[in-house]
Amino acid sequence: MSQKINRIAVIGAGTMGAGIAGLCAAKGREVVLLDMTEEQARKGVERLTQGRRPAITEEMANSITTGSLQDQLSLVADCDWICEAVVEDLGIKRDLFARLEEVRKDGSILSTNTSGIPLRDIYKDMPERLQQDIAVTHFFNPVHIMKLVELVPGSKTSSQTTRRLADFLDNTLEKGTVYAKDTVNFIGNRIGCFWMLAGLHKAADSGLSVETVDALMSKPIGLPATGLYGLIDLIGLDVMDFVAKNLSANLPSNDPGRSFLTLPQTEAQMLSDGQLGRKSGGGFYKMVKGDDGEKSMEVFDLTNKAWRPMIKAQLETSHTDISQLMYNDDAESKFTCELMGTTLQYASALVPEISDDIVNIDRAMKWGFNWDKGPFELMDSIEPVKFAEMLKTRGVQVDGILKVLIDSNNTSFYQADGSEFLGTDGKYHKVPA
Ligand SMILES: NC(=O)c1ccc[n+]([C@@H]2O[C@H](COP(=O)([O-])OP(=O)(O)OC[C@H]3O[C@@H](n4cnc5c(N)ncnc54)[C@H](O)[C@@H]3O)[C@@H](O)[C@H]2O)c1
Repeated sequence: MSQKINRIAVIGAGTMGAGIAGLCAAKGREVVLLDMTEEQARKGVERLTQGRRPAITEEMANSITTGSLQDQLSLVADCDWICEAVVEDLGIKRDLFARLEEVRKDGSILSTNTSGIPLRDIYKDMPERLQQDIAVTHFFNPVHIMKLVELVPGSKTSSQTTRRLADFLDNTLEKGTVYAKDTVNFIGNRIGCFWMLAGLHKAADSGLSVETVDALMSKPIGLPATGLYGLIDLIGLDVMDFVAKNLSANLPSNDPGRSFLTLPQTEAQMLSDGQLGRKSGGGFYKMVKGDDGEKSMEVFDLTNKAWRPMIKAQLETSHTDISQLMYNDDAESKFTCELMGTTLQYASALVPEISDDIVNIDRAMKWGFNWDKGPFELMDSIEPVKFAEMLKTRGVQVDGILKVLIDSNNTSFYQADGSEFLGTDGKYHKVPA
């Protein structure tokens, strides 16, 4: 039986499924893309070749075989990897896997691109063969650009399945594989959504302007230029609300993220008014065209609840670096310390719940959220011992791997030029390739 993944079937030709199919085709693999109808599958492929920077060429697109689940399901029979990327609905995914299990060949691998459904709920009571051959492959959008794929094995997934998938993702698709556990939202979205939802609340409490919040939550920390509100405009308040509802159903009962699952009052009003973000023509920011035809940016003032021209925030020099921002006493520093301090402590407390080590967490945030440094690299840049002291003086309990660092009398999460990381045993280990 060949161990190579040469022929791939992707089910669901929406944003993610078409993206995954396109990427596999771009790497010279034989690809079958199925949706409910052949037309939907074909439209998914067509989208890949459109826009200013198409994901794939016409030639690559033509190499993808499209079809309907109704008429062409048998095309998956000789595929080595079948990747499911249909709507986020447990019943639909389970029905689909039951059908795939009947036609797929021995030795083929199944995966789901779910972003929030526990894998164990998908394979529950399914045949033993399926349970050994299934994993989550959580790609990030846009698939051809984002480096991260979270690979999540189930409790019975064979090590051979995990190895073959990781090898294919890393070496053929040239992605960055992060090993995650079957916990809610895996790694990137667990921490990233905490940061965003906590951010909305802490920013509202801070009284800072939208522009100042975004100026702080970007370059000074090493986060993307969109900042907090700009990122939520990209994602959409409706998606944030959906994510919060999923977290509400699945987060552990004592998880600190539970404090931030209801949108602040103003954002809740924006959501019910349909002021969702870029997709609705404006959220926290919107582009307007003046009478002279000139375009300019406006900001939704959260205090007055009215649009006004955007005013670029000017940060003091001492506020352009996280190591100073975290330990000062003015409003901008206090907000940064509130949000980043809580987020870093949250990441620390999630080891080993969501990942056995800090390396996978740092990589997930860098490769999936474009942070310059992951949470533990960030903590190293603000001196973890000093950070833990500061948390204690603010009455925050120091938990997880940060507590391990303190208890083992270490002073950094990485050493030897970043080639070794601190493990949960309080000892340093080699960073895997
Ligand atoms: N969009 C993202 O940023 C993103 C990121 C990571 C993971 N995901 C996950 O990837 C999966 C797909 O998301 P998407 O954004 O591509 O969604 P999408 O809405 O763009 O596409 C979903 C596709 O599923 C098809 N579909 C719907 N019902 C079906 C059924 N009964 N049988 C077969 N196909 C059916 C639709 O025709 C559509 O083509 C979801 O599980 C989602 O949570 C999405």
